[in-house]
Amino acid sequence: MKIGIIGTGYVGLVTAVGLADMGHDVIGTDTVREKIEKASKGIPHLYEPGLDELLRKNLKRGNIRFTHSLVKAIQESDVLFVCVNTPQKEDGTTDMTYVESVSRTIAENLNSYKLIVEKSTVPVRTSLWIRRTINLYKRSDEDFDVASNPEFLREGSAVQDFMNPERIVIGVESERAKEILVGIYKKFEDRILITNIDTAEIIKHASNSFLATKISYINLISELCEKTDADVELVAKGMGQDSRIGPQFLKAGLGYGGSCFPKDVRALIKMGEDLGVDMNLLSDVDKINKQRIKVFLQKIKKALWIVKKKKIAVLGLSFKPETDDIRNAPGISIIKELLADGANLRLYDPKAMDKMKKIFPPKIPKILYFQSPFEAVEGADAMLIITEWNEFRDMDMSKVRELMANPIIIDGRNVFKPEEVRNLGFEYYLVGKK
Ligand code: UDX
Ligand code: UDX
Repeated sequence: MKIGIIGTGYVGLVTAVGLADMGHDVIGTDTVREKIEKASKGIPHLYEPGLDELLRKNLKRGNIRFTHSLVKAIQESDVLFVCVNTPQKEDGTTDMTYVESVSRTIAENLNSYKLIVEKSTVPVRTSLWIRRTINLYKRSDEDFDVASNPEFLREGSAVQDFMNPERIVIGVESERAKEILVGIYKKFEDRILITNIDTAEIIKHASNSFLATKISYINLISELCEKTDADVELVAKGMGQDSRIGPQFLKAGLGYGGSCFPKDVRALIKMGEDLGVDMNLLSDVDKINKQRIKVFLQKIKKALWIVKKKKIAVLGLSFKPETDDIRNAPGISIIKELLADGANLRLYDPKAMDKMKKIFPPKIPKILYFQSPFEAVEGADAMLIITEWNEFRDMDMSKVRELMANPIIIDGRNVFKPEEVRNLGFEYYLVGKK
C-alpha cells in the first residue's frame, strides 16, 4: 500500500516510520523544508526514543522517503494520513486552517482513488467538512473516501506506543475504506475497533479528556492532603489497587501539559457547548489544572519570602520527561511569573533547552542556561523541580547541598525521598504530602 503522511511532526514522523517498518511504501511531506531535509538524511528534527534508528533502518530498506512537495506526496499515494497540527484558538475552538488547506490541495490533485485518513485530533464532524471541501474543489471524477484513525501516541514513548498499540480505532463509512485500513493494520487485527467516523473522533477526545480528568482529580485530592497529614502518593496507591480505577495517571504534581491534553479538553468543552451540552465537569478539570501553577508559585514565595534578585535553579523544561517538547509545559508559566517577580533564573533540561531558548533567550543575569544540573544549582537560593527527569532523581544531593547558597527545594513532581533530602539539611517542599 502506498501511503502519504502529510505533516511529519511528533505524530506524523512516528506514524510514517512505524508504517514503513510494517512493510508499507511511505512518503512523508511537510511544509517545513528543514524537517524534510533532516528526515531524508535519517535525522529526526525532534527527540523521540528509538525514532532515529528506526528511521535510518527504513531509509536503508528503501520503503520510506520524504518530499517537500505536498502535490507529489498526494499524487504518489493511495492512502493519505493527515497529521498536520490542529492548534487551539483563544476561544477554545480548534484551528482547522491546515486541515482545510490540505483538503483543498488533495482535491486539486485527485489523480486516482484516495483514502483520506484523519490522524490529527480533530473535532467531531470534521470528516463532513473534509468531504465537502474535496467535493467542492476537486477537478476530476476520481472517487475518494474519508476515515478517522486517531493516534494514541504518548510523547517520550511514541515509537513503543505505535509498535504495541492497545487498540486501533478505525472510523469508516464505506466497505472499501474499511478493507484498506484493516489491511494496513493487519498485524494488529486482534485489537482493531471498527466504528463510524463520529464515534472514532469522539473516542479520541473522550479518552484524552478522561486521562486529563484523572490527573486533575488526584491534583484536587493533593490539595486536601496538604491541609491534613494525608499522603497523596499513598492515597493514589490505595485507589489504584482497585482494578476499576487502576494506578496510572494518578501522579499528583504540576498538572498536564503537552500539545494534546490542554487543547483536547478545551476543544471537547467547546464542541459540547456548541451542541448544547453542559460541559462543566471538563471546565473544572481545566480550571484545576491551571491552578497547579498558582499553588506551586505560592510554595516558592512561602519558602523564599522575597523572590526579587534571588538566584533560582529551574530543573526540567520539557512538559514531561523523555521529550524535547515544551508545548504547554508548566515551566513556561512558572518562568514568566518568576521573571516578573525579579528573580534570576538558572535553567537546565537534558533535551528541551534549545526550544525553551526560543521563548526565553539567554539574558544575563536574569535567564542563564547551563549544561548540567550541578552548574544550574551553583550559588542558588532555591532549586525547583518542574519535570521529573531520572537524571534529577539520581543526582548526588550532598554535592547539590554544597553547591547551593540555600538548601531549599520546591519539588513539583515529588522526585526525592523526603527523609533523605531532609537528613542532608534541605528544606523540602513537595506535592500533596508533608
Ligand atoms: C498534531 C496535532 O497537533 C495533534 O492534535 C494531533 O493529535 C496529532 O498531530 P503533532 O504532531 O504534535 O500533533 O503536531 P506538530 O508536531 O506540530 O506536527 C504537525 C506538522 O505538520 C508540523 O511539522 C508542520 O510543519 C506540518 N504542517 C502543518 C504541514 O506539513 N502542513 C500544514 O499545512 C500545516
Ligand atoms: C497524551 C496521551 O497519553 C496520548 O494517548 C495521546 O495520544 C496524546 O496525549 P502525551 O501528552 O504525550 O500523551 O503525554 P502523557 O504521558 O499522557 O502526559 C500528559 C501530561 O500529563 C504530561 O504533562 C504529564 O506530566 C502529565 N501527567 C501524566 C501527570 O501530571 N500525572 C500523571 O499521572 C500522568
